[in-house]
Amino acid sequence: MPRRFALVTGGAGLIGSHLVDLLVAEGWKVRVLDNLEPQTHSRGEPGWLNPGAEFVLGDVRDPAALGPALDTVDTVFHLAAYGGYMPEIGKFIDVNSLGTARLLEVIRDRALPVRKLIVASSQAVYIEGSVSCPVHGTSNPPPRAETALAAGRFAVPCPVCGRAAESVPTPESAPIGGETVYALTKLDQERLTLNWSRQVGIPAVALRFACTYGPRQSLFNPYTGVIAVFCSRLVNGLPPILYEDGEQTRDLCYVGDVARACLLAAESHRLDGLAVNIGTGYPTSVRRLAEVLLDLLDSRTGMEIPGAYRPGEMRALTPDIAVAVAAGYEPTVTLEEGLVRYVAWLSEQGPIEERFGESLERLRRLRLVHSVAS
Ligand SMILES: NC(=O)c1ccc[n+]([C@@H]2O[C@H](COP(=O)([O-])OP(=O)(O)OC[C@H]3O[C@@H](n4cnc5c(N)ncnc54)[C@H](O)[C@@H]3O)[C@@H](O)[C@H]2O)c1
Ligand SMILES: [Zn+2]
Repeated sequence: MPRRFALVTGGAGLIGSHLVDLLVAEGWKVRVLDNLEPQTHSRGEPGWLNPGAEFVLGDVRDPAALGPALDTVDTVFHLAAYGGYMPEIGKFIDVNSLGTARLLEVIRDRALPVRKLIVASSQAVYIEGSVSCPVHGTSNPPPRAETALAAGRFAVPCPVCGRAAESVPTPESAPIGGETVYALTKLDQERLTLNWSRQVGIPAVALRFACTYGPRQSLFNPYTGVIAVFCSRLVNGLPPILYEDGEQTRDLCYVGDVARACLLAAESHRLDGLAVNIGTGYPTSVRRLAEVLLDLLDSRTGMEIPGAYRPGEMRALTPDIAVAVAAGYEPTVTLEEGLVRYVAWLSEQGPIEERFGESLERLRRLRLVHSVAS
């Protein structure tokens, strides 16, 4: 088979850089397009850019940069995005929605020989994780009511009877919503790409990543990456601050497994045309995560639970990964092992500034974070 040639947009970031390493190791020719977004790369060009890949400094919103970046590539991994709980609205739409639109237009309008496109979507596209009630079975609840959150009632009730319900894995067929600006733009990216794929006949896959972590996750961005944020506080002797009551759950997936899922989506035809969950399939509560990190970093700070919450956030989301598994995907790194690797990397990063406290105040001021009524 001829050597494959990939463009990885956002290839300097967490998932992109691990994917680049994997592709280079697998013998692919690789080009990166990344604008080194200052929020993520405060110290400029990171030291992990793979010398076996071509690096192009440029913006996915810029057709003049996209044309040369796409030249002769056969596979596009579109990972560049503005991500997290940042307060901007316009920038999310601009980078994520418009950036994707531009990329798709350039490939179509110039009839470029791209044969496959993989776009990074997110678990954030769901409305709330699926739940099961002993009486009414499995259902997909609406967003939690602001009045309930303000009263400190965080659990998701059965939407039929209102009694306590148990979180169960969420399949791709669950309703999608977009309850935050970020989520809306991930939905845009997913739908724009899959619609375009059907029109132009170029196979595409949208991968709905779980919370991804690992070495190289930005230590500068206080708005995203719960593990990096907790660690940046712990190494400064400060307690991690937990939203809600800390019992909300997430699927935390090691970046190496996510990178392998991207490669699988490129090499297999089995996921073509689909939006597919990628994660470990196991939930971890935020409180449990904080406990493991306190232990790993040998910290005595404890944790802080100030009664803050973020409207639009899901309570409990564990993706059902059966579709990806049937296509050959297999998560291999346990949370404990992944966190050990992350903490080892962290210890080599020199002094880390704590920025979360300040960002939390900003988010409160801008009403992205609310407080439980006292
Ligand atoms: N990390 C997660 O938990 C997670 C979860 C779900 C989905 N995702 C998605 O996966 C993708 C990669 O995420 P990540 O965690 O590696 O993020 P990251 O911030 O580490 O990497 C994103 C990269 O994109 C680059 N970038 C940003 N704006 C750009 C622009 N306008 N032009 C060119 N490059 C630009 C940044 O400089 C950065 O290197 C994103 O699309 C993100 O939304 C991530
Ligand atoms: Zn019920």
